[in-house]
This record gives sequence, structure tokens and C-alpha cells, in this order.
Amino acid sequence: MIKEALLHLLRSCCFFFSFFLLLLLLVLFYDHYWRRRRKERQLNLPPGGGGVGWPLVGETFAYLKPHPAASVGEFMENHISRHGKIYRSDLFGSPTVVSADAGLNRFVLQNEGRLFECSYPRSIGGILGKWSMLVLVGEMHREMRMISLNFMSNTRLRDHLLPEVERHALHVLRSWREGPPFSAQDEAKKFTFNLMAKNIMSMDPGEAETEKLRREYITFMKGVVSAPLNFPGTPYYKALKSRSAILTVIERKMEERMRKMNQKVEIIEEDDLLGWAMKQSKLSKEQILDLLLSLLFAGHETSSMALALAIFFLEGCPKAVRELREEHFEIARKKKDCGESRLNWEDYKKMEFTQCVINETLRLGNVVRFVHRRVIRDVHYKGYDIPRGWKILPVFAAVHLDSSLYQDPHQFNPWRWKSGLSSAVSLPPTSNFMPYGGGPRLCAGSELAKLEMAVFLHYLVLKFSWELAEPDQALAHPFLDFRKGLPIKVYSIT
Ligand code: HEM
Ligand SMILES: *[C@@H]1O[C@H](CO)[C@@H](O)[C@H](O)[C@H]1NC(C)=O
Repeated sequence: MIKEALLHLLRSCCFFFSFFLLLLLLVLFYDHYWRRRRKERQLNLPPGGGGVGWPLVGETFAYLKPHPAASVGEFMENHISRHGKIYRSDLFGSPTVVSADAGLNRFVLQNEGRLFECSYPRSIGGILGKWSMLVLVGEMHREMRMISLNFMSNTRLRDHLLPEVERHALHVLRSWREGPPFSAQDEAKKFTFNLMAKNIMSMDPGEAETEKLRREYITFMKGVVSAPLNFPGTPYYKALKSRSAILTVIERKMEERMRKMNQKVEIIEEDDLLGWAMKQSKLSKEQILDLLLSLLFAGHETSSMALALAIFFLEGCPKAVRELREEHFEIARKKKDCGESRLNWEDYKKMEFTQCVINETLRLGNVVRFVHRRVIRDVHYKGYDIPRGWKILPVFAAVHLDSSLYQDPHQFNPWRWKSGLSSAVSLPPTSNFMPYGGGPRLCAGSELAKLEMAVFLHYLVLKFSWELAEPDQALAHPFLDFRKGLPIKVYSIT
């Protein structure tokens, strides 16, 4: 009897306690909410926001709704026309300023570490790892960045990476046949993946282990930008599984290398990033794993997409293909006269129109559409207050497709980049052009990416003409993906 009464009492207490706790939480939440509101009312925040969207997720789903790559999407369009190029919203769980303003974007990137700080959603850190360069800030970021920059320095690009890029481009292009259509996007990924796998940890194209790793990255990619819901079946869960499969491969490579280094026998040293990181840095094993995993990721998903976009845009612009082919035929003819066969740095420097094609592809296609930053000091910009703790998203795509900066922005027009001939409304067109970001976090691989595209395009236009096997388009998810993988048919020339 007494026992039951006690139990009953205990249960009521529990109930009462939970109820009280819940009430307390609600009060705290509202207090926080109203304080924030009151504080915000005193500030001159950018327009927008104001009770739209759902709690926590806010307008995230509308913002991330897939749209064609060469457009800014409905959400951006509507918000810009309603509020202007700087507006506020609730995205990724934080009050956020979205910027389609070239000046503010530049200001944010230049003030990295002082007023703003790189801050990607937690899901990205979970997948790329806590030592990934996208997640790190401060001293550790600088150290990792130095290693990557040294690895892709100008001398290494010229003496070592150019022949590598050429070899891998030819490896892929030599497998192309007239006849049934194939996915140009897959082929571009093969090219850039093989190149990175070889130069990061000396893995050879076509081998079973390399192919397995490449397939893991496909699953991996899908999870990077998905909601961090970690239960079986979700893209995030699958990506975490891929992450550990990828790490297992890299770890095995490391152990192999360790054995070789310990054997002290004079073996031909592999001149790859793994070897560098193990010998010349103080990084721990865990740090090297994350560095390699994320470089392999950053280095192949972006440049392959840029290449696929170039193949796509060029297909719709025969005049540009003709001019491109002339440029490369000329280079090839001169080489033949001298009896050379391999491309060298001087040849690369002659690819001027090619660089216009590359810039125009990135301007119109926007491989990286926006970056994530956090405001670390209260900022005042063009009359607006941007409070500490908020997020800010510089959206490069919106600047690159802005008709007040680029004439006919939706037109693929490589000639707008020709010096002296620029048809951009504002001169020079490059000051608002930020496909690789900027400031202390400017893409470490931008020169390599340009080299990859130029060399691949060189052999592509020399060997083939191509057409789309069926209509396709790239969608921004926000990572880009051709719906059907960009199916093309090729015809050998010569
Ligand atoms: C067309 C191809 C590429 C585009 C459009 C691109 C774009 C970008 C952008 C916009 C950022 C800045 C991210 C931020 O500020 O938050 C970035 C960073 C980075 N990219 Fe690229 N990228 C490309 C190719 C590559 C390649 C081939 C590599 C080579 C491995 C690479 C390695 C990196 C690294 C390591 C960072 C981090 C830099 C840092 O935080 O200091 N990227 N990239
Ligand atoms: C392409 O854009 C870059 C900026 O990323 C600029 O420095 C370069 O001059 C541009 N190239 C051409 C041919 O306009």
C-alpha cells in the first residue's frame, strides 16, 4: 500500500517536474526570441525575413530548390526583386544575410578572419572530417593551405602536373568511340578523379582499387549537401559509410608507405601528396587522412563539372568551337613542325581564346554558387547592420548573372572576355568575377583547374566533334549535376 502510494507520488513528481521544465524552456525560448526581436528592431537590418518560413529550417528548402545552373533560381529572383541585392532570411538554422552584391561579396571574402569566418553547416564537417580545410579556421587552416599550395605551385604545375594532366586527358579521350552515346559528365569525372588519385597517392587509373574509390565518391558527394539525418537509408548515412570506406583505402596506402619508408631500402620515391605530408609536415595521421580525403573531393568534383559545362555550352555555340579548334590546330601544327608531340608551358600560354571559354563557362555555369560565412564582429555595410553571430552567404552566381554587370548574362559569349573587346557593361569584367572565391581562402586549385580544362579541351577539339544525344541541362542542388549525365555522341575528325 505504502509502496504504491510512494510510487504514485514519485510519478506525479516526475510529471510535474517535466511539465515545469518544459514551461521553463518555453519561457527561455520566448525571452530569447523577443530579446532578439527587440534588438533587431533597433538595428537597420537588410530587408526581408519577417515571419516567413518554418521554425529552424526557415526558408532553407525554398533556397535550395534545384534550378537550372545558368539561372539564379526562383527564390533568389523573387527576393532580389522584392528586397534588393542584400536581404535577410532564415537559412540553415540561423538568421542569415544573403548577398547578391558584388561589393559586399568582395568585402566578406577580404575580411576573412577579421569580420567574417568560414562556417559550413555541420553536415559538411561530419562528412569531410573535422580536419578538412573547409572546416578549419586560423592557424591550422593556414598550415593545411600551405601544404596544398606548395603541392600545386607554379613550378610543379609546369614541370610535373602539365604532363600528368596531358597523360590523363589522353587516357580518357583515347577510349572514346563513334557510335552509341555516353555520359560526358562521367568521362570528365573519370579524368579529374584519375588525375587527383594519381597525384595525391599514386593510384593508377583503371585498377580495381581506384575504380572502387571513384564509386565511393559518387555516394559521398550526394551526402555532402544533404540534411544531416543519420539513420539507415538517408543520403547522409550512406555518405558517412562511404567516408569510412574511403578512409580505409587512404589508411592502407599510408601504412604501405610507412613500411616502405621503414625498410630504408632506396626505392623510387613517389612524388605525391601523401609522401609530402608524411615526410615534411607535423600532421597527425588523422589530419593527413582528412586532408587527402577532402583534397580528392574538392579537386575532382569541381573541375569535372566545369569541364562538363564547357562541353555543354560549346555544343550550343558552333562559332566558339570553330575558333577554339583554330587556336588548337595552330598550336598542334607548330609543334609538328618542330617534331614535338607533348604540350609544354609555352603552348599552354598560347591558349588565349581557351581561357575566355573557361571564364565564360564558370561565369554562366557557376560550379561553386555561394560560400558559407559567419559574422564574428558587428558589421556596418552600405547603411545596413549585420549583427555578430549571423550567417552571411556571398552568392557569386547572382553577381555573375546580373544584367547590370554583364550584357545578356544568360548568353554564352566567350568573346566578352577578349581584352579590348569586352562587351561587359562595367570594365573590366574580372573585378566582379569570383568563380574561385577570394581573399585568404581563394581556391588553392584554381590554376590546376584551368590547366585541366585547357589541356582536355585541346585534345577534345583536335580529335572530335560532338553533339548532345538528347536534351539535357545541369541543375543546381546546389552542387551541379546534369540530369541525364550529359549524353553525347562523338565523331572523329581527321
Ligand atoms: C573549376 C574548378 C574549381 C572551382 C570553381 C573551385 C572553387 C572554389 C571556391 C569558390 C573555393 C572557396 C570556398 C570558400 O571560400 O569557402 C575553393 C576552395 C578550395 N579549392 Fe577549389 N575550385 C575548383 C577546383 C579545385 C581544384 C582542382 C582543387 C585541387 C585540389 C581545389 C582545391 C581547393 C581547396 C584546397 C580549397 C580550400 C582553400 C582554403 O580554404 O584555403 N579546387 N574552391
Ligand atoms: C579570367 O578570369 C580571371 C579571374 O578569375 C582573370 O584574372 C583573367 O584575366 C580572365 N581571363 C580572361 C581571358 O579574361
